[in-house]
Amino acid sequence: MELSLLTVCYLIGSLTFIIGLKMLSHPDSARKGNLVAAVGMAIAIFGTIFLYEEEGKKLGNYSWIFGGLILGTIVGVLAAKKVKMTAMPEMVSLFNGMGGACAALISVNEFGHISEMLNFSVENIPGWHTTIMPPSMAGTLITIFLGLIIGAVSFAGSMIAWGKLNGKIKDFAFPGQQIFNLVLLAATLITAGYLVFNLHAGNTYLFYVIAAAALIYGVLFVLPIGGADMPVVISLLNSFTGVAAACGGFLYDNQVMLTGGILVGAAGTLLTILMCKAMNRSLTNVLIGSFGGSASGAGAAKGPQGNYKEISLSDAAVCMCYANKVIIVPGYGLAVAQAQHVCHELEKLLEEKGVNVSYAIHPVAGRMPGHMNVLLAEADVSYDKLQEMEQANDEFKTTDVVLILGANDVVNPAAKTDPASPIYGMPILEVEQAKTVIVNKRSMKPGYAGIENELFFQPKTSMLFGDAKAALQKLVAEIKSL
Ligand code: TAP
Repeated sequence: MELSLLTVCYLIGSLTFIIGLKMLSHPDSARKGNLVAAVGMAIAIFGTIFLYEEEGKKLGNYSWIFGGLILGTIVGVLAAKKVKMTAMPEMVSLFNGMGGACAALISVNEFGHISEMLNFSVENIPGWHTTIMPPSMAGTLITIFLGLIIGAVSFAGSMIAWGKLNGKIKDFAFPGQQIFNLVLLAATLITAGYLVFNLHAGNTYLFYVIAAAALIYGVLFVLPIGGADMPVVISLLNSFTGVAAACGGFLYDNQVMLTGGILVGAAGTLLTILMCKAMNRSLTNVLIGSFGGSASGAGAAKGPQGNYKEISLSDAAVCMCYANKVIIVPGYGLAVAQAQHVCHELEKLLEEKGVNVSYAIHPVAGRMPGHMNVLLAEADVSYDKLQEMEQANDEFKTTDVVLILGANDVVNPAAKTDPASPIYGMPILEVEQAKTVIVNKRSMKPGYAGIENELFFQPKTSMLFGDAKAALQKLVAEIKSL
């Protein structure tokens, strides 16, 4: 009776994960989707704690379980409340690392049982020290090793990614590192493969050698990758964690863990592919290329080229007030300045004056998927006002003013015109088709890709220098006074 109730809990959990994930794919329903999946997860967790039985015995250990749950909940809630939007990839990385560590610890725990069994047999059954595990255990051992290796790589890699994003860890590489990494990974997998068919009481220590090698591989795999490429790496590591968790689901024959793991693995993989596509870069290029590294790297800007013109706040205000159609292009700088609320105020003010205002959203504007959607949603900007890239590119021809707020690479025409540019081929917002382009940023410094933007030097472009929040506040005041 209780077992079937537990199965129902798991079924609810699995279904809510799928429904929640589907709802996450649209900004309107994303918040609810997150909640639906969280409720399903809670049902699965509490179902396991109170209903799971093995040989007629419940889990017990309630003080440890609830101690951990309460501590984890407090840390999670505080971290989520405190984190700034721009530091979100950092937090995702840290939490993802914890998931990888949990998956690896499941393998450590299960391997402990197997070791105990082998040692017991050595002590009690004559001749067992030479006997290897029965072939029927091969499947279990493969799952244990996969969970261990993938989980440990994900944990160590995510910790390095987290350190890089908060500036505590710098890029590091030594000559021949890629080869060394490949050899280390191959040696780890071969040793694990050997143990699957040759494990006995005398070589169980190799399990811990494999764990250490996987941790070292995780560190060395992420260390050389440019700090700014971390969102893609984190998404990849996220998919690793999903696969490692699915291994745990296999081990425990736990359907909800399996479904959750597979969903995370698949979603992480798809997200990684989509991010690479939106940047027109292959995953290999992200993992071993230098794009996105420090601005002093190969693709660094050589300093301002040509002449650019500036626009005063009052001219910008007049220009927008007398326009029929204005499109705002938000970018990473808008998030840094936390200028989303005043941006929304500007939009409402212009609309009141009869101007048609909308937003053009590039899929990789900012530093994480959906960054601009989340940012604008925070300021209650209506979703109907957001245009996706293809739609916006059709609209620019008939637009009077494009106001670019802290965006750079996503409007760089070099992506279409300069085959030597590292962003060549990346789809961009073709803002130069509009009649007038106003760019707000603090200086002529490059953006994420570390390259010059010829848009800033075109005759129809004017620069409005300053922090996005301060500039928009002044612009709003100026428009109000007109
Ligand atoms: P970026 O190209 O990074 O440009 C942002 C610009 O904002 C900078 O040039 C900076 O110029 C300006 N800025 C910074 N702080 C500001 C502030 N307080 N006020 C006003 N401006 C400010 O941003 P983007 O156009 O959004 O492009 C995103 C880039 O990130 C792309 O290259 C993309 O491939 C990459 N990327 C994105 C993702 C995802 S999933 N979104 C993941 C990995 C990589 P100043 O310093 O002169 O102010």
